[in-house]
Amino acid sequence: MGVGVLGLAHYVPEKILTNADLEKMVDTNDEWIRTRTGIEERRIAGDDIDTSDMAFFAAEKALKDANVNAEEIDLILVATVTPDSPFPSVACLIQDKLGAKNAAAMDIGAACAGFMYGMITGKQFIETKTYKKVLVIGVEKLSKITDWEDRNTCVLFGDGAGAVVLGDVSDGKGILSFELGANGGGAKHLYENENGHIIMNGREVFKFAVRQMPDSSVNVVEKIGLKRDDVDYLIPHQANIRIMNAARERLGISEEKMATTIKKYGNNSSASIPMALAESVANGKIKDGDLVVLVGFGGGLTWGAVAMRWGK
Ligand code: ACO
Repeated sequence: MGVGVLGLAHYVPEKILTNADLEKMVDTNDEWIRTRTGIEERRIAGDDIDTSDMAFFAAEKALKDANVNAEEIDLILVATVTPDSPFPSVACLIQDKLGAKNAAAMDIGAACAGFMYGMITGKQFIETKTYKKVLVIGVEKLSKITDWEDRNTCVLFGDGAGAVVLGDVSDGKGILSFELGANGGGAKHLYENENGHIIMNGREVFKFAVRQMPDSSVNVVEKIGLKRDDVDYLIPHQANIRIMNAARERLGISEEKMATTIKKYGNNSSASIPMALAESVANGKIKDGDLVVLVGFGGGLTWGAVAMRWGK
């Protein structure tokens, strides 16, 4: 048996903030944003929608997609850097909303690599037969920690959520290899300051990411003895199209084989990867039997990658 995805879904708030809207807020322009980042618009959650609401919307749909009852869930892991409050965890808030009364629940903080950390943590519990079904969610309301007067960061981020239900899948399917890593020495390059705003040294983060994303993508493929271009679909963290292309080019795969939700959603930190995964499956870009690589990096600094054979 393997451990894989039984069902998945994503949620995005309705409100769209375009590059043209940002031109009215800070000294920036559509051309700069599109050519430097690949972003055209992003979604922003209203005051009435907090992080746990978005997590709940995605989770409810993922359970339905997996055909799993909330009471069957043994563990809820929520990757987020924007919880409703430091405690209780978002995982506990949605455990109640879902009625997942048999589930243990906790949040995971690994910034944009958080969903990868969540997936691999969930996998361990299932593999050791401790738990059967684990709900893993990546969710962010980054708009609440964005400094809307800082053009270096405010053009980059958006809100949203993605959720997967992990469980047993047939042999050869599911997660085949993974890599997780951290370098706390790089903490100063990306963090939330005492005013509750994202501070980022874009150039340093860029340098780290264009090295780490390609390396991790290749590592998880080589670990299972396959060739780079055996990869059928790549889901990179949606931080910057230039960083994403660096990973894709190192694998030697074409543009059609990479998810690019960044155009319409921007960077959603922990939520980027599960949102892009859910959308790619829904659009038929990922098919049964495909070799899929998920790869992320983020504040910490952290990184993580997974190679999986899609299907149950
Ligand atoms: N509009 C117009 N000009 C801008 C903007 C903007 N929104 N932002 C910055 N600039 C200016 C800068 O001030 C700079 O001007 P200067 O040369 O006069 O000083 C110029 O544009 C070039 O700045 P660079 O930083 O060199 O631009 P770069 O090409 O590196 O792109 C970017 C900046 C997009 C931020 C890039 O560095 C990047 O993507 N870095 C990685 C970011 C990332 O992946 N973050 C992950 C965070 S995920 C998480 O954990 C939340």
